[in-house]
Amino acid sequence: MTTTTLGKNGPNVTPIIIGTWSWGDTKYWDYGNNYGETELESAFKAALEAGINCFDTAEIYGQGLSEKFLGKFIHQTQQPVQILTKYGPKLWRVSPQSINNALTASLQRLMLPKITLYQVHWPLTYLMSQKTLLNTLASEVKQGRIEAVGVSKYSAEQMEKAYEILAARGIKLATNQVRYSLLYRRTESQGILDKARELGITILAYSPLAKGLLTGKYTKENLPTGARKSNPRFQNKGLEKIEPVISLLTKIGEKYGKTPAQVALNWLVCQDNVIPIAGCKNAEQVRQNVGAIGWEMGENEFNQLEQITRPWLQ
Ligand SMILES: NC(=O)c1ccc[n+]([C@@H]2O[C@H](COP(=O)([O-])OP(=O)(O)OC[C@H]3O[C@@H](n4cnc5c(N)ncnc54)[C@H](OP(=O)(O)O)[C@@H]3O)[C@@H](O)[C@H]2O)c1
Repeated sequence: MTTTTLGKNGPNVTPIIIGTWSWGDTKYWDYGNNYGETELESAFKAALEAGINCFDTAEIYGQGLSEKFLGKFIHQTQQPVQILTKYGPKLWRVSPQSINNALTASLQRLMLPKITLYQVHWPLTYLMSQKTLLNTLASEVKQGRIEAVGVSKYSAEQMEKAYEILAARGIKLATNQVRYSLLYRRTESQGILDKARELGITILAYSPLAKGLLTGKYTKENLPTGARKSNPRFQNKGLEKIEPVISLLTKIGEKYGKTPAQVALNWLVCQDNVIPIAGCKNAEQVRQNVGAIGWEMGENEFNQLEQITRPWLQ
């Protein structure tokens, strides 16, 4: 398995990461309805078997359940596992101590002494300044509980500011986790990708399959359960709009013996400085998504996908 660094010289990770927002989340993903702990445990094992040992989670996923599942599964294996988790800057978290406490709680749920990456989940920090927040994370790096610092949903400008605050402490901002897929390309049009490349910050692409749409499995007759049902992107007009994209993914996939999901993820994997975080609910989805790495579509096909998805730059 080839690896890539988080940021210029941060920890080495695999070229695809497994996303675990759905692990324990009932509200959005319908956990407990058509998948449960057994499927998640199989997904975890399938990832390790395929050589992927890096998982993205957050303290809020499943109200802590996602981290707890990971902690339990990690302790059933001898293989090294890397965890990226997130701190939520909530209104009532006003002091550096609240950050230290949140990290302690995440480490307890994960049953780990340290993690690979600690990310600020969103840029709005209410009464706490970015400076206080990021300086506290810098101190945590120095104390060894986190290897690297990341942010999430930061604009180009917010990301650059965060980079400067950490740089003053001798630490490089490793990542910015943002929504990025063939059906959401504002990361490019809003200048985040270019700025990240300039500063050597890795873009962690969340929802890289547009929450399942890019698999091509959702149709008027086959809609998802849970909250996605009421999202216009999953309704008739939305599905009609993406039809040409799914057709092109299918056509390219036929040439390489790949599924539309694998081609959609490969489009991100092919890019410099981008690592997709693919959400997986079971072993089959893990195996399929891991098939997005280890090959590269041709430049011509990459450009065809770029052209057909230009409406999603807006
Ligand atoms: N920083 C943030 O604010 C933020 C926000 C969102 C996500 N994230 C992170 O990014 C990760 C991924 O994003 P996401 O979960 O929103 O969306 P995604 O990766 O675009 O889509 C994941 C969903 O697509 C379906 N799927 C995945 N692979 C498939 C396959 N090979 N075949 C068929 N269906 C497949 C599954 O749901 P169904 O089977 O139910 O369709 C799965 O839960 C999250 O888990 C989380 O770690 C972060």
